[in-house]
Amino acid sequence: MPNGSGGPSCQRALCRQRELRRISPSHPRTNFNGRRARIMAEVWTMIIEMRTYKIKPGKRSQFLDIFGSKSVPAHTEIGMKISGPFLSVEDPDTFFFMRGFPDIASREPMKAKFYEGELWKRELENILMPMIEKYEVVVVEVPEEQVHWSWAHDMHEERVRPGGVDIAALRALLDELAELGRQHDARETEHSRRMLNVTPETGQFLAMLVRATRAAQILEIGTSNGYSTIWLAWAARDTGGHVTTLERSPDKAAMARANLQRAGLADRVTVREGTALDTLARLDGPYDLIFLDADRPNYLAYLGRILPRLRPGGLLVADNVVSHAGELREFLHALQNDPGLDTVILPVGNGEALTYKKP
Ligand SMILES: C[S@@+](CC[C@H](N)C(=O)[O-])C[C@H]1O[C@@H](n2cnc3c(N)ncnc32)[C@H](O)[C@@H]1O
Repeated sequence: MPNGSGGPSCQRALCRQRELRRISPSHPRTNFNGRRARIMAEVWTMIIEMRTYKIKPGKRSQFLDIFGSKSVPAHTEIGMKISGPFLSVEDPDTFFFMRGFPDIASREPMKAKFYEGELWKRELENILMPMIEKYEVVVVEVPEEQVHWSWAHDMHEERVRPGGVDIAALRALLDELAELGRQHDARETEHSRRMLNVTPETGQFLAMLVRATRAAQILEIGTSNGYSTIWLAWAARDTGGHVTTLERSPDKAAMARANLQRAGLADRVTVREGTALDTLARLDGPYDLIFLDADRPNYLAYLGRILPRLRPGGLLVADNVVSHAGELREFLHALQNDPGLDTVILPVGNGEALTYKKP
């Protein structure tokens, strides 16, 4: 969270509420984790920042998940108190929380400890700041007993759906994997070790197809760490379906299993390790939807194994047909010239070929 009092919209002089009249200023006592607090009208007081945030559209839940799990414990450890989140009933992207300090003198040093610490500098600043559209801070001094301090980790946004999948957590996991995949692939020079995840838009597209066509038997060729698999499995939960996904690399298959576990979707997916052409030969089908996202030189060979396993009326989606159009020319030619198939090329993500197997 930004260090400061809210920028020009919240000048220090304006933000500070008029100090309450101190009845007994000469009687400092010890309170609030052993620190000195002033007495006003025989009541312990403390300094509270009322921090209102407007988060970029659709990101509030993710922001609060990260803030609740990482930032709140770090604040508490330093001795600050946190209460919230309080969600706006008028604006789905706005919330506020309260941050408490024993007195005005400890406010800046405590904040500095957090904002100059490893957690903020190395991790949270880069993730949370880009999600904030604007924020405002009002600083007040109030009787300590007036505030109930607690952070409700699970009171935001969409609830856990019957069946046990926490949608907010799932969205956060998908965002996290997309970001980690991007960062990892930018660093990794060896192609086979890259995650090469589909774009979030493609993930969403796949999930829409599964839900809209009520696809139940789903096959994926090319699992990687399970990013696209999670999108498919999430939708398969809603259709009562199951995903079989094929991956050659044991390391990636292990990552996918761990990520599916985190997503709460492991029971919806079978990860099959091995060379996909071999594994395919042992699968019966029929599948309602097949997603092809593996080694491109074999796409044409896959077609011979995929089509007999796709049910009439089923869909085949192939990734990268725009980004690697030259490499996939023969494959696309085969799809577009098969009288039993209808194929369109869609500008979604890296370019998806959507093929319908005519009944
Ligand atoms: C583009 S990535 C898949 C990305 C994944 N669909 C996602 O969006 O998260 C391709 C994956 O196919 C795997 N792969 C490549 N050749 C394969 C083969 N012959 N058999 C099985 N998997 C293979 C790679 O190890 C890699 O993880």
